[in-house]
Amino acid sequence: MRKHPPDRSESSPFAAALLAQAGGVATVLVLAFALTQTTQLGFWQFPLVPALIQGMAAALIALWQRAPRWWLPIHLGFAPLAVAVHGLDIAPGWFLAAFVLSLLIFWRTDQSRVPLYLSNRRTAVALVAQLPAAPIKLIDLGCGTGSLLRHLAKARPDCRFVGIEHAPLPWLLARISTRGLANVTVRRGDFWQEPLGSYDFVYAFLSPAPMPRLWRKACAEMAPGATLVSNSFAVPDIEPASVVEVTDRRATRLYLYRIRKRRAAPSFLAP
Ligand SMILES: C[S@@+](CC[C@H](N)C(=O)[O-])C[C@H]1O[C@@H](n2cnc3c(N)ncnc32)[C@H](O)[C@@H]1O
Repeated sequence: MRKHPPDRSESSPFAAALLAQAGGVATVLVLAFALTQTTQLGFWQFPLVPALIQGMAAALIALWQRAPRWWLPIHLGFAPLAVAVHGLDIAPGWFLAAFVLSLLIFWRTDQSRVPLYLSNRRTAVALVAQLPAAPIKLIDLGCGTGSLLRHLAKARPDCRFVGIEHAPLPWLLARISTRGLANVTVRRGDFWQEPLGSYDFVYAFLSPAPMPRLWRKACAEMAPGATLVSNSFAVPDIEPASVVEVTDRRATRLYLYRIRKRRAAPSFLAP
């Protein structure tokens, strides 16, 4: 299957974050050099001070990079927290275990730009109400722990439900929890590699970053009349066929896009 080129907006934020942190370290080193030349101050005597300066410099660089606001406290706190935790004398194995656990749960969120959070029950009920009376086939792109699939499969035993998940732990939970449901298939893999042509409904609860790419994939592969449902994240500049307001606490919105007709393949898909 041909691969869709990623948007710049989909690129990993790791490089920019690393640059901000490196800039913070460089600032501290320059400052330390200047101070040792001009004063007798013991710059490294209290490591929390250079760590705080490093954090502030990194946060300022992130601000200049126009990084999303939630990166600022991460940059600000990273080095000071590392110094503070170092003083607690925790065995290194715990850090490794925490890293492995978060990797198993979140997998390559840095690349996918899609963390794990789950559709709630009211959203599942609202989605069931959107399904036609006739049996259909639906795929949940990035099915997480399979909680949405479980609800759908029980509500509509006449329909077929497929889930694809790349993060190992959520995938395992989804596999185990849907074992008794004959109309659910859960696979481990990358949904970008899944052809969407055989699905009447494609459900996605992702993030703003992959929506333009998902729309291109949907238009290129989904059959006319099929429906792309996006939980919370609209496709930029595309008018949805309808929007369902879910009456939950977070005021979830389901954006429904009807695939009208197969569009001419974008130039990057040309053979
Ligand atoms: C926000 S969660 C939604 C979970 C589920 N669909 C729901 O609505 O409850 C998104 C999931 O997509 C998964 N994911 C992200 N990119 C993926 C990819 N390229 N292939 C497979 N799964 C992916 C993440 O690991 C995460 O579990």
